[in-house]
Amino acid sequence: MQLDHLRVAITGGFGALGLAAVQAALAAGARVAAIDRAPAPSAGIGAASCIGGVDLADPAAAANALDTAAKAMGGLDALVNIAGMFRYESVTDGNADTWDLLYRVNLRTAVAASQAALKHLHAGGRIINIGAASALKAGAGVAAYTASKSGVMRFTESLAEELKERDITVNALLPSILDTPPNRADMPKADFARWVKPEQLADVIVFLLSKQSSAITGALIPVTGRV
Ligand SMILES: NC(=O)c1ccc[n+]([C@@H]2O[C@H](COP(=O)([O-])OP(=O)(O)OC[C@H]3O[C@@H](n4cnc5c(N)ncnc54)[C@H](OP(=O)(O)O)[C@@H]3O)[C@@H](O)[C@H]2O)c1
Repeated sequence: MQLDHLRVAITGGFGALGLAAVQAALAAGARVAAIDRAPAPSAGIGAASCIGGVDLADPAAAANALDTAAKAMGGLDALVNIAGMFRYESVTDGNADTWDLLYRVNLRTAVAASQAALKHLHAGGRIINIGAASALKAGAGVAAYTASKSGVMRFTESLAEELKERDITVNALLPSILDTPPNRADMPKADFARWVKPEQLADVIVFLLSKQSSAITGALIPVTGRV
């Protein structure tokens, strides 16, 4: 799959999935700007522009970061919203602040980054969001998390409809458990081979960025490996 100099901004680009997505997009021939709240890796990420220290839930900071990314790449063709976080917390013992936190980090970041990107995106553009398979049918302890990711899913569907006239596609991937070091530490007895590797999800992101996916919009695509 070739991305032929596509100019792609990837939020959460210094995290586990973000790094894999940045590397996969670069390998496919894209120009990439990675945007994250975390500081930029000192060694950089290949040829990607690294924009660190950005709270994407702040619309002004998001606008500034997307403008910087577009300037660095000479324009913007696609946005991949990966920034996010997980919290396990029961409703019984939980805190309402967790709901605000997860809404802010999982949904508000995607909304603010998308709004900031829309002034740059053009026909043929792409927005890819990361939801969660667990938001399709929530289990115990993930109410705040799945509520925020359900928001990402409805945001995806609505924005896809809104942008049909502009020929910009908007889709969401719904991963189950990713094979990351924190998940291995939290679930040491699990069969890691059944989990989705960040690189596998990054391959699906590259497909959604590519010309070959131009007829797909408003889709919520589970990527669940053998979980
Ligand atoms: N890991 C899984 O099993 C799994 C499963 C389903 C869905 N997902 C989703 O997949 C995405 C990536 O997960 P991951 O495991 O790669 O997470 P990760 O390694 O924690 O990476 C997430 C990155 O997003 C950044 N970030 C958080 N809040 C931000 C903000 N307000 N503005 C800008 N950047 C922000 C984080 O920075 P800080 O380090 O500074 O917080 C971090 O670098 C998330 O949306 C997550 O919900 C993950």
